[in-house]
Amino acid sequence: MIVIDGVDGSGKGVQSRRLLQSLQAQGHAAILTREPGGSPAAEDIRKLLVTGEPEKWDDMTELLLMYAARRAHLRDTVWPALAANQWVISDRYADSSRAFQGIAGNLGLDTVERVHDIAVSEFQPALVLILDLSESIALQRAEDRGGSENRFEKKGAAYHARVRDAFLQIAATDPARYRVIDAAQSRDQVSRAIIDAVNQRFELTLEPTTTGD
Ligand code: TMP
Repeated sequence: MIVIDGVDGSGKGVQSRRLLQSLQAQGHAAILTREPGGSPAAEDIRKLLVTGEPEKWDDMTELLLMYAARRAHLRDTVWPALAANQWVISDRYADSSRAFQGIAGNLGLDTVERVHDIAVSEFQPALVLILDLSESIALQRAEDRGGSENRFEKKGAAYHARVRDAFLQIAATDPARYRVIDAAQSRDQVSRAIIDAVNQRFELTLEPTTTGD
């Protein structure tokens, strides 16, 4: 399982679609999924989380809903795909809970880790790519995209600056599992950096692609 994570508007969507294309171009069976969501039940929970006003849920309720969605996503999508020998690319995973609810929110990392242990236990992705971008550029991009899934964007710039720092802090804890990618580069440069990281980690010879945007 390869996770692409980072602040809102950092380009995860495009880059995860490109990575999927690169894997499939060389005949690897792969699926692309996302959190919150990624299975029918988890997508139902996603709607509760990403719409409405920020104060609709407090940090703890938000965390529990994220983990309810995560558990459904793992059981219904991720674990069956891995068992069938497929690559799983996920646009966000548990580090989003650590960053958004734990470090940038008021819960603290320990609380997230306790819930994580109960809901997920031992399972971990093999590689996590953190797309790093200043929160002001990232939020502007997310805003330009529009739509009604903007509950988290409305939490403000200071919150998103803490989220950015949180991802960097998490990545520093385990350099073998995490790679930080500078998402201020061009799309194609970001794709190149992602492919290099994946090739190095899994001893593959993937090529970057620009299709699937
Ligand atoms: P998305 O727009 O990247 O699909 O994610 C929706 C929002 O959910 C995004 O603002 C980040 C937030 N989020 C969390 O706060 N905690 C989590 O565990 C996950 C997966 C997402």
